[in-house]
Amino acid sequence: MPDFMEILYGRRSIRKYKSEPVPEKALSAVLESVRWSQSWANTQCWEIIVITDKTIREQLQAAVPKGNPSFKAVVEAPLLLALCAELKRAGFYKGNAASKFGDWFLFDLGIVTQNIALTAHAHGLGTVVAGLINHDACKEVLGVPEGFELVTLMPLGYPDEAPPAPPRREISAFTHYDRF
Ligand SMILES: Cc1cc2nc3c(=O)[nH]c(=O)nc-3n(C[C@H](O)[C@H](O)[C@H](O)COP(=O)(O)O)c2cc1C
Repeated sequence: MPDFMEILYGRRSIRKYKSEPVPEKALSAVLESVRWSQSWANTQCWEIIVITDKTIREQLQAAVPKGNPSFKAVVEAPLLLALCAELKRAGFYKGNAASKFGDWFLFDLGIVTQNIALTAHAHGLGTVVAGLINHDACKEVLGVPEGFELVTLMPLGYPDEAPPAPPRREISAFTHYDRF
């Protein structure tokens, strides 16, 4: 397995996949990485739906704008994960929002997303986060109950492309010392 920084640098958003299935062991590792995600007060608000069914995939694709670069991947990747969150868990204390930002579900799901992406990459798999979707339409397709939100779709499979790394801001452009 590559070392951690290699995994960090080497992970790319993958939008073109081979049809080869995701091995059970790799999927288990990905789900294990979700399980060990850090979260607000260990509230673990995530729920993950693993989708293989083609009809459901097509119904979900109808909820993705055609201009989304991941439009095809939603159907073509061998697996699709839907990342959902239970509301009023992350950031809440005795039913009340404990901080200025209210519900921290997006934050905690962001951590889950990164764990999935890095673990998948460590196993030679690719992923992409699809956030530009019609969330309510996806919820409807998957029967996500009230009190939960579907946050992102994540295709998962072996990459059939090796895109270059998009440019990054320099450390000096975002790092501040002592004051902003
Ligand atoms: C919250 C979030 C939402 C994203 N939504 C989409 C999306 O809807 N479609 C897509 O093709 N890529 C999407 N991306 C992928 C980004 O475009 C990608 O991470 C960024 O360009 C950097 O490229 P890299 O992941 O290869 O380093 C999303 C990424 C994040 C973190």
